[in-house]
Amino acid sequence: MTTLLDGKQCALDIEAQLKTSIDALRQNGERIPKLVVILVGTNPASVSYVTNKAKACTRVGILSEIIQLPEISSEDAVIEEVKGLNADPNVDGILVQLPLPKHIRSKAVIESIDPDKDVDGLHSVNVTKLVMNERGFIPCTAKGVVTLLKAYNVPLAGSDAVVLGRSQLVGRPLAQLLLNENCTVTVCHSKTRDIPHYTAQADIVVAAIGKPKMVTLDYLSAKSVIVDVGINKVDDKLVGDVDFEAAWDKVTAISPVPKGVGPMTIVTLLQNTLDAYTWRKERHG
Ligand code: GUN
Repeated sequence: MTTLLDGKQCALDIEAQLKTSIDALRQNGERIPKLVVILVGTNPASVSYVTNKAKACTRVGILSEIIQLPEISSEDAVIEEVKGLNADPNVDGILVQLPLPKHIRSKAVIESIDPDKDVDGLHSVNVTKLVMNERGFIPCTAKGVVTLLKAYNVPLAGSDAVVLGRSQLVGRPLAQLLLNENCTVTVCHSKTRDIPHYTAQADIVVAAIGKPKMVTLDYLSAKSVIVDVGINKVDDKLVGDVDFEAAWDKVTAISPVPKGVGPMTIVTLLQNTLDAYTWRKERHG
């Protein structure tokens, strides 16, 4: 029987634990963790993501603020905003929603975030920590995928894992994280000659390519555990990178789209924000 990797339910369970932790802080009269999201412009997908993040904060009791800046904002103006948040002792986490308008260099903005408040895990300090397998912030989708696999007791150490995609946001950090979990990791990408050759013998396949239903049955085997990171809009419907209907029943486990990795990304952002709060308190009291 195929197992459904239910990210929605897994995220709800983690939210309940986070809410208990935040409630305890409130009852002890402690400061409450706070996340600030900066949104530049009005890209509808970004507005929707940012709204969902703020709503999730509210559900568990984390304070949140959305700073919406006009599309025409200069790079310096965005960086000045970040610097103000870096200096604000009541702010634990800072997230700059991507993509930014073309005239702004994402790298310059991300590098201006205090690494101790970089709950997105995109600052070079945190990227290095992930590579060194040291404590730091891990990008939310990558960490959420591994949390989901662990919640279903999928063995990681010694398993063959194939990551499809090599983006800064998902594929690269995920490959590193799976390596830190002692998987044997293969990364496939647009220049890979024969992707099914790798995926068909893998224990775990994570698809993060951004091509609707690209992963079909010939990529898979009965032992496959599949995690679908894809969020593609086709005829106003959300579709993953995996042909779910074809794969279901033919594999060991698979995550759906929606209600798979999406909710895991958001709940991981909440976890990272609480970690930012806890770690800052450890350092500064
Ligand atoms: N846009 C889409 N996904 C993400 C994410 O994980 N972090 C940020 N900052 N922007 C995104």
